[in-house]
Amino acid sequence: MLIKARLMVRSAALVAIIAYAATAQAPASLKDAYRGDLTIGAAINAAQITGQDSRGDAIVEEQFASISPENVLKWERIHPQAETYDFTLADQYVAFGQKHHMFTVGHCLVWHNQVPDWVFHDDKGNLVDRETLLKRMHDHIQTVVGRYKGRIQSWDVVNEALNEDGTLRQSLWMKIIGEDYIAKAFQYAHEADPQAQLTYNDYSLEVPAKRAGALALIAKLKAEGVPVTSVGLQGHDSLTWPSVEDEDATISAFAKLGVKVAITELDIDLMPRATRQQTADVSLSIRQDAKLNPYVDGLPESEQQQLAKRYADLFAVYLKHRGDVTRVTFWGVTDGDSWLNNWPIRGRTSYPLLFDRSGQPKPAFQAVVRASSTGTTSN
Ligand code: XIL
Repeated sequence: MLIKARLMVRSAALVAIIAYAATAQAPASLKDAYRGDLTIGAAINAAQITGQDSRGDAIVEEQFASISPENVLKWERIHPQAETYDFTLADQYVAFGQKHHMFTVGHCLVWHNQVPDWVFHDDKGNLVDRETLLKRMHDHIQTVVGRYKGRIQSWDVVNEALNEDGTLRQSLWMKIIGEDYIAKAFQYAHEADPQAQLTYNDYSLEVPAKRAGALALIAKLKAEGVPVTSVGLQGHDSLTWPSVEDEDATISAFAKLGVKVAITELDIDLMPRATRQQTADVSLSIRQDAKLNPYVDGLPESEQQQLAKRYADLFAVYLKHRGDVTRVTFWGVTDGDSWLNNWPIRGRTSYPLLFDRSGQPKPAFQAVVRASSTGTTSN
C-alpha cells in the first residue's frame, strides 16, 4: 500500500517535471517558434547595420532568421548620381546577413519614391527617352543585383506599381518606358542573378480593386514568361484592416496563380487614422495634431491586448497558408525604430511592433509565439 502510494507520488512528480521541461523548452524566439513553417524577418536600419545599436542587434540575432534593408539599398542611397555608386552601408548590410546566416532581402530596385531626379532627366532637365531610361534601369539592376549575386536571396524588383483602383500608376517609369517597364525590370534582375527570388511588392493588395489589378498584372507577367516568383503583401495593417477573411482570400488568390506570397513589411498601426484611404504612400505628410497622438505617455493595457490578439489572428492566417506564404518580415525591430513614428505625421509615439522602446518583448510577442503552436502540428 505504502509502496503504491509512494509510486503514485513519484509518478506525479515525474509528470510535473516533464510538464515543466516542456514549458522550459517552449521556443523563446520567433524564428524557432516558426522554424519549418515561416521564415520570420525584420527590416533593419543604419544603426543596426553598423553595430551602433547593439541592443537592437542582439534582438535581431536572437529573434530573426531574415533581414530586409529599411533604406540602405534604395536607389537614392546607393546610386545618388549617374556616375556614383555608394555601397558602404549596403555592403555592411549584406555582410551582417551572411555573418548570421540570414535570408537576406534586397529592397528595392524600381520604385517611384526615394529615386533621384537625375534618373529620369537629361543634362538640360528634360525627361529622357524610353531607350535611355531602360539603359539606366538595366545598368542599375545589373550592377546592384550582380554585386550581391548569391548573397541576397530575394529582391523586391518592382515596388508599388499600382494605384488604389488597380490601374497602373502613372510614375515616370510608366510614362517614359510604358507598361513593359515591369517585365523588363524582372528580366534584368533574373539575368543578373538567375537564382534569386524576384518579388512584386505593394501595399493594400487586400483592397478588392487593387488586388484585382495586381492579380491581372501577375497573371499577365506569368503568361509572358516573366520570372516573377513571389508577391509581397507589405502588411501595413491596423487593428481592423484588413479583415482576416480578406487576408485569407488575398493569399489564396495569389497562391492560385503559382507565385509564393511573402508578408514583407508587417506592422499594426494603433494611431488614430489620419487619412480616409487605406494607404502606405510614403509621400503623404499630414500636419501634427495632439489628438492624433494619444499615447505619448504609454500604451494602455487594453490596447496592448488588442494588438496581441490582432497579431495572433493574422499569424493564424499566415500559418494556414504555410508553403504558399514563405516569409513574414516586420518593418522594424522595436517600436522606437518604426517609420510609423514619423509617417504620415511626424513625431508621434507609435506602438506597432513586438518589442517596446526599451527592447522588451510586448504581450504581442508572446501572442505571436503562442500562435505558432496553435496554428500548426509540426512544432
Ligand atoms: C520607409 C522607411 O521605413 C522610412 O524610413 C523612409 O523614410 C521611407 O520609406 N513601403 C515601402 C518601404 O516599400 O520602403 C517604406 O519604408 C514604407 C512603405
